[in-house]
Amino acid sequence: MDLSTYLTQLRRDFVLPVAELKEISIAFQHAMAAGLSGKPSCLKMLPSFIALPTGKEHGSVVAIDFGGTNVRVLDAELDGAGSIQVKQMKRFPLIDQVAGHNFLNEKAEASQLFGYIASKVAQLTRPGVSYSLGHTFSFPCEQLSINQARLLVWTKEIKTRGVEGQDVGALLDTALAGAGLPGIKSDAIINDTVGTLLAAAYSKKDVDVASICGTGHNTCYLEPVHPATGAPMIVNMESGNFDGVTQTRFDKTLDAGSDRPGQQILEKMVSGYYLGEIARIVFSDMSMSGLLPKSENLANRQTLRGIDLDHIIEDAGDLSRTQEVAKRCFLMDDLSLEQRRAMKEVLTRIAQRSARLVAATFQGAVLHVDPALKSPHFIAIGGSLFEKMPGYSAWLQQALDELNPTAIGRVSTMLAKDGSGIGAAIAAATAVTERI
Ligand code: GLC
Repeated sequence: MDLSTYLTQLRRDFVLPVAELKEISIAFQHAMAAGLSGKPSCLKMLPSFIALPTGKEHGSVVAIDFGGTNVRVLDAELDGAGSIQVKQMKRFPLIDQVAGHNFLNEKAEASQLFGYIASKVAQLTRPGVSYSLGHTFSFPCEQLSINQARLLVWTKEIKTRGVEGQDVGALLDTALAGAGLPGIKSDAIINDTVGTLLAAAYSKKDVDVASICGTGHNTCYLEPVHPATGAPMIVNMESGNFDGVTQTRFDKTLDAGSDRPGQQILEKMVSGYYLGEIARIVFSDMSMSGLLPKSENLANRQTLRGIDLDHIIEDAGDLSRTQEVAKRCFLMDDLSLEQRRAMKEVLTRIAQRSARLVAATFQGAVLHVDPALKSPHFIAIGGSLFEKMPGYSAWLQQALDELNPTAIGRVSTMLAKDGSGIGAAIAAATAVTERI
């Protein structure tokens, strides 16, 4: 087979016409409705016990944002009149070869992970200030209240022992007491999508859906009348687990070799952690078909970093950056221009498919709350793909416009930078303000 025939087949697999996006959005709506009414569904539809902020939230807050390989700690102040001031914000790596720690692998214990986070909270808090604590914990949790959240299952290939099945609020509170901070206790635990929605809705009207398009992928939305309470509540859909999509043979290979086959099907097709992996699997297939050089590195997981994908996608002219990445990652020298073009096309198709699949799920969420699209809707989005990948946000918006040709401008996306940390602060202040 030659390169051009290979690419024609690849397009068949990866290009999603609008009709297919529509079907996906309908399947997504069905999964939402089923999950919400407690029927079996790939969407967990987890209640968050919080609605949109009013602007009246106030007080000193320490916010923790943990959802991947770094944890961020913020010291913030809400004035009760719609504004928030971040006094300090620091990021700490949970995997640090120099310091010799890895709190995220199968050897790490819950007490080590939360002990480390608590020690960082102790470093950032100012003596004499009374804080409420908001914790963005970006994994699927069953919530019993705003500050009780039981981790159902780790995602994003994290494996720390003793956390699954446990209340992360209680784990953190024990660690905070151990770090000499018995007065600080978990007041709110939220998902990062929920944090993103809270942060965006704090300063803008009509935001009722929020998503993370980064290392992981997930979306939440404001359910206007939640069946459990009859009142508005944000629902964390854990949409990375949506399975109403067609996997290519490359997606199936990726899934079979992942830590938890069969789970997080959508996330494995769209999120930053996996996009480079899909590309590596395609490149490896091309190499086996004699279309790219042989390379042992093609078998190594996580070789392509996010920034490599960005460089290739925006590469132009003689595609020298593509050559540079191919050499550094896969020791491939002297690729022909045709081979470089093929690599660029593979990556671009994979990234475009990600944006279009995500758009289809957004469409499902928006139509769930407003079937006739009577009102404007903003979807707040955080994460590296949306923020940094060249073309990604435009592909997403274009797919939404294709899905709503008679309502252009009704469904818009917006960047919500650092929303998950700020959102934790808003959630803690909300919990405390409502308790008074
Ligand atoms: C994973 C987690 C989810 C989180 C998302 C983005 O999908 O399961 O809870 O929101 O990553 O960080």
